[in-house]
Amino acid sequence: MYYPEELIEEVRQKNDIVDVISGYIGLQKKGSNYMCCCPFHGEKTPSFSVNRARQIYKCFGCGEGGNVLTFVMKYENCTFPEAMKILADKAGVELPKAEYSEEAKRRETRRQKLLEVNKEAAKFYYYQLRTPRGVKAKEYLDKRRLSEETRKNFGLGFAPVKGEELLAYLHQKGFSDDLIRDVGLAKMDERRGTTTQFWNRVMFPIQDINHRVIGFGGRIMGENDSGPKYLNSPETEIFDKSRNLYGMNYARTARTGNIILCEGYMDVISMHQAGFTQAVASLGTAFTPGQAGLIKKYTKDVLLAYDSDGAGVKAALRAIRILRDAGMSGRIIDMTPYKDPDEFIKNLGQAAFQERIDHAENSFMFEIRMLERDFDMNDPEGKTNFHNQIARRLCDFSEDVERENYIEAVADKYHIGFENLRKLVVNMAAKTGGYAVSAAERPKSGIQSRNKNTPEEHAKKSQRLLLTWLTDYPQLYPKIKNYLSPEDFTEELYSKVARRMFEDIEKNQLNPAGIINMFADDKEQSEAASLFTTKLPELESEQEKEKAFHDILVSVKKNSYEYYSARSGVDISALSKVIEGKKALEELNKTHISLK
Ligand code: GTP
Ligand code: MN
Repeated sequence: MYYPEELIEEVRQKNDIVDVISGYIGLQKKGSNYMCCCPFHGEKTPSFSVNRARQIYKCFGCGEGGNVLTFVMKYENCTFPEAMKILADKAGVELPKAEYSEEAKRRETRRQKLLEVNKEAAKFYYYQLRTPRGVKAKEYLDKRRLSEETRKNFGLGFAPVKGEELLAYLHQKGFSDDLIRDVGLAKMDERRGTTTQFWNRVMFPIQDINHRVIGFGGRIMGENDSGPKYLNSPETEIFDKSRNLYGMNYARTARTGNIILCEGYMDVISMHQAGFTQAVASLGTAFTPGQAGLIKKYTKDVLLAYDSDGAGVKAALRAIRILRDAGMSGRIIDMTPYKDPDEFIKNLGQAAFQERIDHAENSFMFEIRMLERDFDMNDPEGKTNFHNQIARRLCDFSEDVERENYIEAVADKYHIGFENLRKLVVNMAAKTGGYAVSAAERPKSGIQSRNKNTPEEHAKKSQRLLLTWLTDYPQLYPKIKNYLSPEDFTEELYSKVARRMFEDIEKNQLNPAGIINMFADDKEQSEAASLFTTKLPELESEQEKEKAFHDILVSVKKNSYEYYSARSGVDISALSKVIEGKKALEELNKTHISLK
């Protein structure tokens, strides 16, 4: 959907950033800003700042920043058009109806058709469970102690032995073999023609967050039945296993402030039946970053209820890392002595499970406890190696306070002297290149950025500072416009912002939040936001401020001069910039610029 810039601006202006963000998280007024702990990275001391005058937000911890639209996109984990819709609705602005392209219309119609096939199939299976032929399945679900209400809630069903029955039913509803195959309910078999995917199984419809059936899981009922224990629909146009979670359609409205992540459909169903409606499971495959993103829309607090066996522990360790990379915390529910939540609840009941939730183990402490198993603690060398491993992992905490707290907790639990462990961690950091940078600062590659002090970084920093100064003191622009042009900002994005900003100042309508709208990409938006929110040094006197501003201006000009000098051999237009730059620098050195 394409929206004209004026409309985007209207929606933005009608949604005050402080009001909107306060609707999501608690803000506290500090001076001219509103502060809180950043919702986009884990932190304990607030570095997330919202500025009402400029209508932008910025986190000084992780660098995330932007305007009200950027915030909603980030926080709701949604696209730009979705954010527009949310904010337009809030402010009562009417958006033009989407004019779908032919292609988009065709795709949407097809999706609807595929969903319809699944819905009809789910109805068919549901009905079969309640016929005499479904008796075996009914007995199986009785044995697993699922109430009628639970069966209804999850739309459980039964796929009869003869697959043709489903086909006949769907044909009668007007669906073609092609469509039935495309949705994964049947396959083409050379000898037998079209055969169904599921037969003689208890059926679990898999729903997306809007309760639409996107696929199925089917379970055998007896130990001796043929085929795998669980069989799922294949991935299709409407069934993306890496971005959906079983039970999420109910869990999203559970309002418990957390999500319980487990491995099995039966575990989800058992937990919901016991009142833990915040339980979800991955879809027969390992937990993915896409699923972490889905959960993050609702909460950052995830409780892991994985199997207590070796495979379960391995899967849990993997999930913890995925959650951590997504900026979420994980806690582990201890299921012993039972294998999974389903068995636990059947044996010990709901209250005991709640107790385990309340005592869920911090994911870091869980990782260390699992690590311990790999070492022989009776052997001094084994013990030393274990301690070194602990120290290595403690270096992964970028925040000092957090790291210290963990050092204390680990030292306490494993009877290592606090000071000794601390020394070990410091030495380890010195050997391996310091503590980790915070997750949000880390480049996607995972490689630690070490270029903070390069000349390019320094030049960029000065350019950012200069733009922030001009945002704070737009009255300075007329005084320096003879010395400064957008080209002096050697970063392409900075130069774009500078050009627009100078135009806005000339028209006496400087509008930082509006400038951010120039950029479609949210990375660029947040970079643009950083141009108006770079932390200016807190200077007391007017004199100091004037000196600082002068220095920054000279620094930007000097960098630009050097930048174009280096190119003047190959680029004619650069040469004139060099001559102009040299003159400007000389004049600047003699000029006093007053802030008033
Ligand atoms: P029950 O035995 O019914 O209690 O199921 P469970 O949830 O305890 O099963 P388990 O821990 O063995 O498996 C967890 C999840 O892994 C299931 O819900 C399925 O999604 C998936 N799964 C289990 N067995 C198979 C299999 O044979 N094939 C496939 N594709 N997935 C399976
Ligand atoms: Mn089980």
